[in-house]
Amino acid sequence: MSEISANRLFPFSRPRRNRKADWSRRLVREKELSINNLILSMVIHDRDEAPEPIQSMPGIFRHNLESAIKTAIEAQNLGIPMIAVFPHISADKKDEHGNEALNPEGIIPTFVCEVKKHAPNIGIMCDVALDPYTIHGHDGIIDDDGYMLNDETTQMLVKQALLQASCGADVVAPSDMCDGRIGEIRDALEENGLINTQIMSYAAKYASAFYGPYRDAIGSKGALKGDKKTYQMDPLNTDEALHEVALDIAEGADMVMVKPGMPYLDILSRIKSEFKMPTYAFQVSGEYAMMEAAIANGWLDGNRARLEALQCFVRAGADGIITYWANEAAKILRDGK
Ligand code: PBG
Repeated sequence: MSEISANRLFPFSRPRRNRKADWSRRLVREKELSINNLILSMVIHDRDEAPEPIQSMPGIFRHNLESAIKTAIEAQNLGIPMIAVFPHISADKKDEHGNEALNPEGIIPTFVCEVKKHAPNIGIMCDVALDPYTIHGHDGIIDDDGYMLNDETTQMLVKQALLQASCGADVVAPSDMCDGRIGEIRDALEENGLINTQIMSYAAKYASAFYGPYRDAIGSKGALKGDKKTYQMDPLNTDEALHEVALDIAEGADMVMVKPGMPYLDILSRIKSEFKMPTYAFQVSGEYAMMEAAIANGWLDGNRARLEALQCFVRAGADGIITYWANEAAKILRDGK
């Protein structure tokens, strides 16, 4: 466009006209963040003790069974569609293979049963991975060199997912990044008559520094030997994310996820436009910690920053956001503040 014709657009075109008042801004708004987009992420411990604050995640607790159920009921009453639960397992229950993950009386099966009794109208999603249960903090079974064994791990994950589904988990969410595990879990669910259990695949999950506070939250931090780069993705890759998502959909995933969230909005956007599947973003512990630290210092305007972070996911194409902040966000959305 020449300089002259560009100049002629103004003042006929004044994009600021539509922004002149609140009613007009609402009228031209392209996307909406609603309570229906929120998935509450929560951590539960397996001891008969009080909820414990998680130091690196101000405002977030490792719940005990009672406070976790209360929080689930609150989420249901706020209209939040689903909760995602992660366990903090006592050190004496951890072993090399993560066998506690298969204990029908473990904290996750117990919690799922209780939620189904006390909050029957909220969905419950369980994490399928062994890192909360292993002494080495990896998501599966490792060999002598610390390499995570794919097929041996998958066998455990299938059993873990079946246990969760048979206890009433609505969605099983493998977060381990083993190859082929979605197909194996789908087959096992079908064979066991659990045809309506949804699978949300952590399809594009990156080897990220932003999980730091979570490892603290579930107690796998000090324990983790090495890193997770032989199974989680390189932060510099996009095409590989699309390939991973295509495989997981072909293997039977109902929903796909990108993780972490905010640093990976480009990935989210490409996945949504390419596959048009229900697509979710995980606002991970490090994103939460980073924002809360700045807010605590008075460097960010708290609720404005928190809400904007969630809105960005919706704009980028997310159908929902897994967030530790869901109940508080829902109250703000409900009250229109
Ligand atoms: C591992 C798992 C992780 C998270 C959820 N499941 C961490 C990891 O891969 O090391 C991270 C959640 C968060 O940071 O909020 N199975």
